[in-house]
Amino acid sequence: MASVLNPLEQLSLDQLRQRTSAKWRTHPADVLPLWVAEMDVPLAPPVHAALTEALAIGDTGYQVGTAYAEAFAGFASERWGWNGVVAERTAVVPDVMLGIVEVLHLVTAPGDTVVVNCPVYPPFYAFLESIGRRVTEAPLNPGGRLDLAALEEAFAEPVDGSRPTAYLLCSPHNPTGTVHTYAELTAVAALAQRHGVRVVADEIHAPLVLPGAQFVPYLSVPGAQDGFSLVSASKGWNLAGFKAALLVAGPLAADDLARLPEVVSHGPSHVAVIAHAAALRSAGTWLDALLLGLDDNRRLLGDLIAEHLPEVSWTPPEATYLAWLGCRGLFPDAASDEGADARGLVTSTAGPAGVFLERGRVALSAGAAFGSGGSGFVRLNFATSRQILTQAVRQMGAVASRSGR
Ligand SMILES: Cc1ncc(COP(=O)(O)O)c(C=O)c1O
Repeated sequence: MASVLNPLEQLSLDQLRQRTSAKWRTHPADVLPLWVAEMDVPLAPPVHAALTEALAIGDTGYQVGTAYAEAFAGFASERWGWNGVVAERTAVVPDVMLGIVEVLHLVTAPGDTVVVNCPVYPPFYAFLESIGRRVTEAPLNPGGRLDLAALEEAFAEPVDGSRPTAYLLCSPHNPTGTVHTYAELTAVAALAQRHGVRVVADEIHAPLVLPGAQFVPYLSVPGAQDGFSLVSASKGWNLAGFKAALLVAGPLAADDLARLPEVVSHGPSHVAVIAHAAALRSAGTWLDALLLGLDDNRRLLGDLIAEHLPEVSWTPPEATYLAWLGCRGLFPDAASDEGADARGLVTSTAGPAGVFLERGRVALSAGAAFGSGGSGFVRLNFATSRQILTQAVRQMGAVASRSGR
């Protein structure tokens, strides 16, 4: 098979600056954007080909059928040896977050409490609040792993008189890049069963497990049969602009899935499903090249931090292209009154992300947006070229030295 070039090294900064997506158009043109989860890669050729073919025949109508489910079933079987995806127990949804919302409409009631593991992807809070669910936090342990005791406490603890009814698991975890093990997920399923809590696993980052770790689908572990998972090609192949995702129900959640309103199927785009299915079905070689590039960047980032930001603490992620950087040693005073919106976008210059943006011209996601324990951290997106990554960390290092470390 022909080898694929590292997708992260294909586009110049000038080309990237021509993009009009959130990553490239939120900040002034002198800022290096390493914040929102978009990658600086061209479209994978098999996805490009599938879209070109669809456009050539004007295949731009409404979405129908099981192409997404079949493509994902094949991917899950080949990559993870998991053969549990049955098309009848899936639904195409507009995107992962809206899929989560729909599942929570099925298995929780307004006013119910949902457990999350902080620090976590900021929209978890905003979306749950937008549908009138309360959020309770079970913090990750200091190593960034699931803390089963904290989880059990959160499951058992009444919030305003009622116990949580659902748990929104992020697997792999954003922002720490933690890949939950078979043993951890099995323990999660047992705890959830014991406390009558429904598990909804956001597995959007599953294709992005880096060399050295192995992804375990939540629905593949014993005791998880009444759970749900949300998957998508949007992170692995940078397809967030093509709105579609797949909701997968465990065997004991089929009846709940059957209650999914028909109107939900009007949301996802047919052309998006063509792109996502092509990625899962035919762009595995491209994904492998990407993962090698991300593994290289993970190593490079470690070297750059050691050289330019030695006070920053981090644990290299096992998955994702996100690095969770502890900056409290660098800015002991800056961490307390950080401002950030639900996307992790800096709204004040008080915290480390604000300082790196204002003085270093590097945009990062502000830790405070990720819930309790996030303040004093920044999230850096290393899905970019070695040159941009190097330049960005150098600029951050220059800020740190001007701050008088
Ligand atoms: C954990 C997690 N869930 C969901 C999303 C958003 O996915 P979608 O655009 O499909 O809603 C992201 C995007 O970065 C994410 O990191």
